[in-house]
Amino acid sequence: MEEKIRHVAIIMDGNGRWAKKQGLPRTAGHRQGVENVRNIAIAANDLGLEVLTVFAFSTENWKRPEEEVGYLMKLPSVFFKRFLKELMEKNIRITMIGEMEQIPKETAKVLQAAIEDTRGNTGMTLNFAMNYGGRREIVLAAQQYAQDVAAGKAPLQIEEAQFGQYLMTSAFPPLDLLIRTSGEYRISNFLLWDLAYAELMFVDEAWPELTPERFQECLQRFQKRERRFGGLK
Ligand code: IPE
Ligand code: IPE
Ligand code: MG
Repeated sequence: MEEKIRHVAIIMDGNGRWAKKQGLPRTAGHRQGVENVRNIAIAANDLGLEVLTVFAFSTENWKRPEEEVGYLMKLPSVFFKRFLKELMEKNIRITMIGEMEQIPKETAKVLQAAIEDTRGNTGMTLNFAMNYGGRREIVLAAQQYAQDVAAGKAPLQIEEAQFGQYLMTSAFPPLDLLIRTSGEYRISNFLLWDLAYAELMFVDEAWPELTPERFQECLQRFQKRERRFGGLK
């Protein structure tokens, strides 16, 4: 039986290499990547996904040259200026995981506005991982849990599902599939907790050149996988 696919995450990698291949600066790759967030999000929504989580900026990406970081931080504004109207028409809801605090004020404002404007939308959720790190997420969850224990609001003995409530992804359906573009075989500190039993797929295309057709093909390949979750089928 075909399993319904609810939540897909993408590590949108390879913007810089894609640009270099065209003889363009790395930033041109990021700019083209923004267009593709729109294309793949619209496709995912049309295919009936509940959540598409996209890795836009990691806690490690601050190590990049200031100029590139500055450019990346301007992209939410570019994205929403260009596409918010269309996302609204498609009933897509915007959410974010990651820490807002270190994000430049102007960028945070744009993100917050998009989240606010689309809060009531009931179509797919397009979830941006911005200033997100999987280990950081778990540390923050542990801190919050420790505080709740200290305050007598949570018991010391808890189950995995209860700890999961402290994570940034707690409101979303379980992660079904992770796709990483650009032929790199690693997780790069993305969604560590949620990846415990997600299916993994690595494709050679750079993010700016991943087409909706190829994306759909990934979902079809997922349908052929047998998920056993440690049991027998
Ligand atoms: C992904 O593309 C975008 C971000 C990580 C922000 P890269 O910028 O990592 O591109 P490559 O991997 O250097 O080609
Ligand atoms: C992962 O890509 C982060 C994002 C796509 C936002 P990176 O390009 O930063 O990952 P590494 O450095 O190759 O592990
Ligand atoms: Mg990269």
